[in-house]
Amino acid sequence: MPDRRLPALLSPLVYLSSNWISLTGVVAVTTASVLWLFQLPLFLRGEVDNPYTGILTFLVLPGVFFGGLILIPLGIVREVRRRRRLGEPTRLFPPLDWRNPELRRLLAFIGVTTLANLIIGSQLSYRAFHYMDSVTFCGKTCHKVMAPEFTAYQGSPHSRVACVACHIGPGASWFVRSKLSGVGQVFATILNTYPRPIPTPVANLRPARETCEQCHWPQKFGADRLRILTKFADGESNTRTLTVLLMHIGGGHERRGIHGAHLDPGVTIEYAHADPGRQNIPWVRYSNSVTGRTTVYLAADATPEAVRNLPRRVMDCMDCHNRPTHAFESPEAAVDRAMAQGLIPASLPGIKKLGVELLKKEYPSREAAAAAIPQALVEHYRRQDANFYARQRDEILRAGRVLAEIHNRNVFPEMKVTWGTYPNNIGHMDFPGCFRCHDDRTAADGRKLTQDCNACHRVLAMDEPAPKILSDLGLLPANGH
Ligand code: HEC
Ligand code: HEC
Ligand code: HEC
Ligand code: HEC
Ligand code: HEC
Repeated sequence: MPDRRLPALLSPLVYLSSNWISLTGVVAVTTASVLWLFQLPLFLRGEVDNPYTGILTFLVLPGVFFGGLILIPLGIVREVRRRRRLGEPTRLFPPLDWRNPELRRLLAFIGVTTLANLIIGSQLSYRAFHYMDSVTFCGKTCHKVMAPEFTAYQGSPHSRVACVACHIGPGASWFVRSKLSGVGQVFATILNTYPRPIPTPVANLRPARETCEQCHWPQKFGADRLRILTKFADGESNTRTLTVLLMHIGGGHERRGIHGAHLDPGVTIEYAHADPGRQNIPWVRYSNSVTGRTTVYLAADATPEAVRNLPRRVMDCMDCHNRPTHAFESPEAAVDRAMAQGLIPASLPGIKKLGVELLKKEYPSREAAAAAIPQALVEHYRRQDANFYARQRDEILRAGRVLAEIHNRNVFPEMKVTWGTYPNNIGHMDFPGCFRCHDDRTAADGRKLTQDCNACHRVLAMDEPAPKILSDLGLLPANGH
């Protein structure tokens, strides 16, 4: 009996759903089901650790599926109303039979969409996910929005690390948190309502230790590292000086130094920040579960009442390395580096000062800057000494090109990103950095967050033309003019 009754029961459904709204719902439901079935095995086998697959599998496809499920009865209700209005039957229908055009239409619909989905699903989806995972997608799809970060990234030590490795990472739990906000970001981009500049710090970044320690595990740290910084003075002769720092990186097995002090097993450092950018830090608490010591440091101008309700955070890699890959430069440091590398010839009189001045000017657009900076350089040297200009023309043009490149990898007027927009928390020269906490503030027990110049690095030489330590080590670079 059931085999007879089933078609009878189904027949009103088939007839009534033979309208465009319900059919759209049918397409949505079948599409979502077929594509979902394609995704499932990839997920179960753990082949794709890709957060975008996650969005699709757990957010988009189910959304389409249930949306479709709602459309089908909606269409039926409308169809019933329409039939009532026209006086057509709404209950009694001929039994299902191949000769009914409605049934044929419905089955053809399901058949064609399923076939199309099978083809699309098998050909496209896997590649699409790989694409969405790629740096190209992150950096270029939202071209204008991400241009500052993408540009800085390309010149960084992480230029081969995919955006998702830091921003989302593998695993299902973080995808939900960071990607739910990611969905919002996609809409903000489409609707052109995203903030400019993109605010930092990033609220939904994965915990740094989980992310960074995939590649930089703490046991690897330890040794001191020699840093040689080259600078050029502002005068006509661009005098070169060198600063030599021995960075006490520490950590790992060494239980000392910068990493050791903040990251050793048992150490937890919490802080309260008075601004969203975490630049103003009036309260710090150090606790060590191995030694059992807890020390609270209050800034000189803060009171316990004033800091009680401020947002708090546990310190991790990102509080120092907040620009591991989107490292924007300062005009001075960028020109110094380009001159040290010989990209801008130090033989051009006063080029350091002039270059920095040209970089700091405001230009209406990046294109305008790329034209105006070399132009201004040419005019300057031609006016100063036409013979010199004629002899050094190629060098001057090259310097102009390099300066324009520096400008355009740091300044993005359409995103309101310019010099100093994004603070770099490592160091203490251009931004407060380490000195946000290390300002010699004293705890009740007399301990200090030290500002001793030799606590974090030994200053082996500071702004010297030819530091003895470097000539002793045979490391003094040639003063190549
Ligand atoms: C090595 C890890 C790493 C990689 C790789 C990486 N980022 Fe970031 N990104 C960060 C960190 C750390 C921040 C700053 C977080 C903070 O301060 O809270 C950040 C911040 C951002 C911001 C917010 C604005 C800003 O500059 O603070 C954007 C946008 C961004 N990244 C986009 C990208 C894009 C696009 C890529 C790939 C081209 C990428 N990121 C690759 C670690 C990374
Ligand atoms: C997928 C692997 C990977 C991840 C994840 C990663 N890094 Fe790196 N990191 C690298 C590689 C590769 C280098 C380059 C090593 C070199 O130059 O010797 C590097 C270099 C660095 C350097 C040294 C830069 C220099 O000037 O020498 C720092 C600092 C750093 N990473 C911090 C971080 C931080 C902080 C995070 C987390 C936000 C992170 N990295 C995440 C792979 C990674
Ligand atoms: C208190 C601030 C601070 C914290 C927290 C911190 N670092 Fe560092 N890290 C530094 C400084 C400073 C340097 C040296 C930079 C230099 O040489 O100029 C450094 C150097 C490094 C280097 C380069 C090491 C080398 O030998 O060249 C890597 C990689 C690195 N950090 C990764 C990490 C990771 C991963 C974390 C989190 C587990 C972390 N750091 C936490 C301040 C910090
Ligand atoms: C959020 C606050 C905070 C920031 C920012 C911070 N530190 Fe610290 N630092 C601390 C605390 C807390 C201690 C441990 C003090 C204690 O032992 O009671 C510490 C200790 C140290 C020590 C050991 C000092 C000693 O006397 O032995 C070094 C070295 C150090 N920090 C380097 C750095 C460097 C380099 C930076 C910047 C890259 C930095 N810190 C940024 C909070 C901070
Ligand atoms: C809390 C740790 C800490 C203390 C204290 C500290 N520094 Fe530094 N210093 C750093 C770090 C980190 C850098 C950045 C190295 C880099 O560029 O990666 C730095 C960089 C420098 C530089 C080179 C920066 C540049 O661009 O020219 C000089 C010079 C310097 N420090 C001098 C000093 C002097 C002088 C003192 C004492 C008043 C001092 N530092 C105290 C952590 C510290």
